[in-house]
Amino acid sequence: MKLLVTGGAGFIGSNFIRHMISTYPGYKIINLDMLTYAGNLENLTDIENTPNYSFIKGDICDRQLIDDIEFDAIINFAAESHVDRSIIDSYPFLRTNVTGTQNLLEAARKRGCRILHVSTDEVYGSTEEGLFTEESHLRPNSPYAASKASSDLLARAYYETYMLDVIVTRCSNNYGPYQFPEKLVPLVVVNALGDRPVPVYGDGRNIRDWIYVLDHCRALDIVFHRAKPGDVYNIGSREEWQNIDIIKTLLAVIAEKTGADKVAMTEKMTFVKDRPGHDRRYALDPSRIETELGWKPVTGFREGLSGTVDWYLSNRQLWGRIISGEYMEYYKLQYGARPPR
Ligand code: NAD
Ligand code: TYD
Repeated sequence: MKLLVTGGAGFIGSNFIRHMISTYPGYKIINLDMLTYAGNLENLTDIENTPNYSFIKGDICDRQLIDDIEFDAIINFAAESHVDRSIIDSYPFLRTNVTGTQNLLEAARKRGCRILHVSTDEVYGSTEEGLFTEESHLRPNSPYAASKASSDLLARAYYETYMLDVIVTRCSNNYGPYQFPEKLVPLVVVNALGDRPVPVYGDGRNIRDWIYVLDHCRALDIVFHRAKPGDVYNIGSREEWQNIDIIKTLLAVIAEKTGADKVAMTEKMTFVKDRPGHDRRYALDPSRIETELGWKPVTGFREGLSGTVDWYLSNRQLWGRIISGEYMEYYKLQYGARPPR
């Protein structure tokens, strides 16, 4: 099996490649990544010399490049992935998430091969009550979510029109090692360790459904090997948390692990201007993958958060190099426009 993994230098993709390299030593893994601000080959330093792993720097929108690569199946992680950035500028989101995905669907169609498209629960929009199932309507609210929903619809159209062997997964919010520190969990950790305020959007009561990244990777492995063409699977851990509770938990864990003063740590929380169109609640029903494919998450939320803090404490050099240059420019632009409330 020659597996083309796109976006493998990012957060989930790099965790997935590490999982696949150790689980399937007989597979050849080709990592195609454009290395945007979010792509970092340092995420894969420990496996970069493994004989069955190779890296190609390239863009999923580049048709010729994809045509020239030899592979038997695709798993597509490549995306612009951050809601706040999509609010500042949606153009790269439409380009990569829609046109790029179309290009990969075409490549899979030409070869008649399987493609697993990694998507998100954000395509369903926000709900005050109940859980999103795979049959729920797509009602995306941010430019990011709209671009992912568009790619899901393209995947569906390729299945219906060409009977392409395409599978779509929709996962809840991931956290864990190697996450870029623009997303909530790593941003809280990095800011707390760097003695910066921890920004809480709005009233902090928005709810997200959280999953440890390696549980997501195991789910993708199972879906990739066992799903039928055209299948859609939600992937979630039934861990609904208000942002404020996650932030308080994380700050307490950090204080405990570093010996810092717990009260001073909690006082880092700063309520700031809300995100425009901020989705109130995401909540997924993962019954289908649980009952049909027997997958279940194994990492509890508190255990996962604690392990994630340990990882950021042990890898200060890696993320220390990230939070300079482009990151600080983004940070000033994003949080400069979010004064304390
Ligand atoms: P990420 O931003 O950490 O990584 C994205 C990777 O894609 C980067 O390595 C980047 O360089 C690469 N990339 C971007 N544009 C590219 C292009 N045109 N060609 C080739 N490579 C390109 O994202 P992530 O958090 O690892 O998310 C991976 C996938 O999972 C995305 O499709 C995202 O929508 C989906 N997802 C993420 C979450 C989450 O909580 N992070 C939840 C559900 C679904
Ligand atoms: P994020 O990690 O950006 O993921 P998403 O918006 O895709 O769910 O944000 C998770 C939640 O945390 C979301 O409700 C917005 C909130 N948030 C903050 O309160 N402060 C922050 O600095 C960030 C980045 C997010």
